[in-house]
Amino acid sequence: MASRFLILSVLSLFFFFLAVSNASTNGYHGGDKIFDVRNYGARGDGKRDNAIEITKAWNDACQWSGGRSTVYIPLGTFYLSQVTFSGPCKSYITFIITGTLSAPRDPNVIKQEAWIEFRYVDNLTVTGGGLLDGQGFYSWSLNDCNKNPNCRTLAINIGFAFVRSSRINGLRSINSKMGHLNFYSVEDFNITRVTITAPGDSPNTDGIKIGRSKDMHIYNVTIATGDDCIAILDGTTNLDISDVRCGPGHGISVGSLGRYKDEKNVEGLTVRNSIFNGTTDGLRIKTYAKSVSAISVSNFLYDNIQMVNVENPIVIDQQYCPNGQCDSPGKYDSHVQIRDVKYNKIWGTSTSQAALSMQCSKTFPCQDVELSNINLIYSGRDGLATAFCQNVGGSVRGTIVPAGCRV
Ligand SMILES: *[C@@H]1O[C@H](CO)[C@@H](O)[C@H](O)[C@H]1NC(C)=O
Ligand SMILES: *[C@@H]1O[C@H](CO)[C@@H](O)[C@H](O)[C@H]1NC(C)=O
Ligand SMILES: *[C@@H]1O[C@H](CO)[C@@H](O)[C@H](O)[C@H]1NC(C)=O
Ligand SMILES: *[C@@H]1O[C@H](CO)[C@@H](O)[C@H](O)[C@H]1NC(C)=O
Repeated sequence: MASRFLILSVLSLFFFFLAVSNASTNGYHGGDKIFDVRNYGARGDGKRDNAIEITKAWNDACQWSGGRSTVYIPLGTFYLSQVTFSGPCKSYITFIITGTLSAPRDPNVIKQEAWIEFRYVDNLTVTGGGLLDGQGFYSWSLNDCNKNPNCRTLAINIGFAFVRSSRINGLRSINSKMGHLNFYSVEDFNITRVTITAPGDSPNTDGIKIGRSKDMHIYNVTIATGDDCIAILDGTTNLDISDVRCGPGHGISVGSLGRYKDEKNVEGLTVRNSIFNGTTDGLRIKTYAKSVSAISVSNFLYDNIQMVNVENPIVIDQQYCPNGQCDSPGKYDSHVQIRDVKYNKIWGTSTSQAALSMQCSKTFPCQDVELSNINLIYSGRDGLATAFCQNVGGSVRGTIVPAGCRV
């Protein structure tokens, strides 16, 4: 009697759990769910293409409405030809990369702008501390952009387009073919604890590239690469950058601007508490001399920045002309208006004498440029650092070394 009762209760308990687990996989019961790419057949053997398997895991996670969903990539090297992760998704979604995602060596395999793309997603978190390996070494020699203005573009490691209220927290990106992280039309996005690495002589390997985006924070990132550590393109507003370690690289650059019509203003940039070490440029704003768009660059603050052996620590260049690729240098004058830019507490060493150089437009002189507490020392032995300012209006406070700019 007692044993029959026991069997019955064990059985009913079994059916009870069966019912509960069925209910939760069918989404009737709320619940957070992990979509492990291994369950979709992905293999971290460094060889087999996992694009289809990881995309399936994403699609299921994206459609999960029972609670928060997580795509999980475990340790291992997952070869990935190219992927696009599209939304909109039904809930908050986390993409955890603990292992390595490895790109094709052959750049022709990637037929989209970014090797890994996220599009039309809200409330996304990319995290896990894993690695994106762009395998750029095999394609850098194909890059002729320094000679050919219509050069072919190669893939960026990871791109975010039309993504809102999202973040990357903890990710490494190495050896991109042509740029590491790209943001286009992104809103309310935070980038923290990201490490970007490529050789100082790898061509066009921008670290973080941002355009047409607003309300972004970049905090505590380390970038060593062959082009701009951070490139800020037209239409970027309200971008807050702090605790960046940049070098080697080309510094934090705004622009190039003014070359194309329909460009939009760049407004509201702060760069604070950062260090540039061994970079070609530090804080740079560049606009083409021959500009077809009359946009403005305004409301910037650069505060507490250390320069260690930087070639050109502070630069405004409104006669920008890369690799001599523009017609009639000196003939045109930029139509980009630079206004309300503050530099406070910028200090350290410059490897060229041109520590402070502001060449503004003759027709649209820079307005309200404020310099305070600048101390930049030329590290060479053949003279002192120099300051050059042309068509700059504004004010000077505190000690300015090198002196000599009448703004
Ligand atoms: C994303 O989060 C916001 C609030 O931060 C919420 O209003 C919105 O509905 C969320 N979207 C999705 C797809 O969960
Ligand atoms: C980004 O960080 C800011 C400041 O810490 C915070 O207010 C905001 O909610 C964050 N946004 C996202 C999407 O994480
Ligand atoms: C900055 O990021 C590094 C990892 O890249 C981490 O170890 C460190 O704790 C972070 N610091 C802060 C203050 O968040
Ligand atoms: C600058 O970089 C050099 C070479 O990598 C390194 O030895 C030095 O410690 C760095 N300086 C600072 C202040 O980070």
